[in-house]
Amino acid sequence: MELLKYDIVILGSGLAGMRAALQASMANEKLSIALISKLHAMRSHSVSAEGGISGVLYPGRNNDNEDLHAYDTVKGSDFLADQDAVEMLVKHAPSEIRLFDRLGVPWKRSSKGEIELRAFGGMSVPRTVFAADKTGFFMLNALYDSLLEHKNVDIFHEHMATKLIMDHDRFNAITTIDMATGEMKAFAAKASIIATGGFARSYGFTTTSYSSTGDGIYLAYEAGLPLKDMEFVQFHPTGLVPSAILITEAARGEGGYLVNSKGERFMKNYAKSVMELAPRDIVSRSIVTEIEQGRGISDKRLGDSEFVYLDMRHLGEDKINERLPMIKEISMKMVGIDPSKDPLPVRPAAHFTMGGIHTDITGNVMYGAKKKTMGLWAAGECGCVSVHGANRLGSNSLSQCVIWGKLTGNLAANFSSRHQLSDEIAGLAENEEDRISKILDAKGNENPYDLRKELWHTMDTYVGAYRTTKSLAKARKIIRNLKSRFSRIRIADKGMVYNTNLRDSLEILHMISLSELVVEGAIRRKESRGAHAMREYPKRNDKQWLKHTIAQKTSRGIKFSYVPVKITRWKPVERHY
Ligand code: FUM
Repeated sequence: MELLKYDIVILGSGLAGMRAALQASMANEKLSIALISKLHAMRSHSVSAEGGISGVLYPGRNNDNEDLHAYDTVKGSDFLADQDAVEMLVKHAPSEIRLFDRLGVPWKRSSKGEIELRAFGGMSVPRTVFAADKTGFFMLNALYDSLLEHKNVDIFHEHMATKLIMDHDRFNAITTIDMATGEMKAFAAKASIIATGGFARSYGFTTTSYSSTGDGIYLAYEAGLPLKDMEFVQFHPTGLVPSAILITEAARGEGGYLVNSKGERFMKNYAKSVMELAPRDIVSRSIVTEIEQGRGISDKRLGDSEFVYLDMRHLGEDKINERLPMIKEISMKMVGIDPSKDPLPVRPAAHFTMGGIHTDITGNVMYGAKKKTMGLWAAGECGCVSVHGANRLGSNSLSQCVIWGKLTGNLAANFSSRHQLSDEIAGLAENEEDRISKILDAKGNENPYDLRKELWHTMDTYVGAYRTTKSLAKARKIIRNLKSRFSRIRIADKGMVYNTNLRDSLEILHMISLSELVVEGAIRRKESRGAHAMREYPKRNDKQWLKHTIAQKTSRGIKFSYVPVKITRWKPVERHY
């Protein structure tokens, strides 16, 4: 296996990873930095972020201020977010938005030249900055362009990570498969940042790309590092039917309505004061309830699942063309509907995973529930800081990505300036080469794509916006079976060059394993909080469950423990909207 040595290796090239690379490079241009991407870096899932990034750009306007942003976030999280981390998010968000202005992102501006703000769910006032409905594309492009100027940053496109090698609590190396050649490479470094995004692709009906398979989270778990709050999976209310392509929340922020089969704006029955702009957990459950109670809409041409309508006709063609052009293009291409003329069929789709690698407030990956690792950080969706708690507010994720990208980039740069490369990794890397060869050469009879299909069906059906003890038990049984069947897979392509069968199979293993943790965490949490809604336990139970779930791999299986939520200023109260 080829061994490459760097000061810092960053795994994942979405907004968090690229922002981290930029920051580390700016902190010390003498550092050698490897940025590893499973795809071409510009195809990272951040590129498809649509609606915008949150931050209080104009304190005082609309009576907005950082405390209000923080409180909205904490309340939206159903009081599971760590409040010190939320305070950090709101404090750093405005300067990050201004940085991207300087990097060339064409934020929407008024005729006076001021950056415009749009409304988003759970936010008391408009505070989401946007570039039409292609915010992620512009932000990622700006970072990528900037990084190309930093000659100390080597970008490795199309390298699939297979193992995180730790020496006890110290980061050591990451092994990868170079997709173009099939050769394995080990990246040894003084410090590392994992920024590989979430794993909402464990669901079939999801807004996320095929690449959102939680690779970094799985690698951390396999390395024995603790994961946090894995049971919390966000469903975005408006996945376009039947593809689940994201119809941005900005469509409602700009004034779009949700309507049932009777033509009623049903959100008046669930969140009267904010209607369609309630937090996503509430809107998604409202849609599911409307459908369950017989007020859904069906159209066989759009598949078997019922849906509701997102009606944007009253916004008018000009506003849609100006502020939501991609939504219009997607709707016309995917379902032949012009949203200025007809309503869109939508239903909740898996969108974001609140849980991830257990970190402290700086993104430093924890070694156990309380001790920290040396030289390892996680940023963006794969890291659970926790800033979103049980339910993320829309547009807070881009802020999280870039803020913790910057923070971890600085810390990793500082760390690697003061430390040496850790000891030899050759032996461990060779073992990994053997493991991958065994998977590739296995002569089983299970088709990995069948396993993936079953996983998607299971997660969609039994681990959705509502859960029951019975549905979770069913999911547990199926997932355990999928795990054991994975040991008998057969990979059709035995070649070395662009073996996407091999990559997909590894991703399938990652998704099955992480889904198991979602289900196991959910079975244990006997309450309803944010995105985790249990029919048998419809209420939040702060007395017993105001705590984060920690899941860690041990030789005897998954070990669960709990750590307290950090409450700084806002006592938990019942959520009303
Ligand atoms: O609806 C959206 O544009 C999604 C935004 C987000 O998840 O933050």
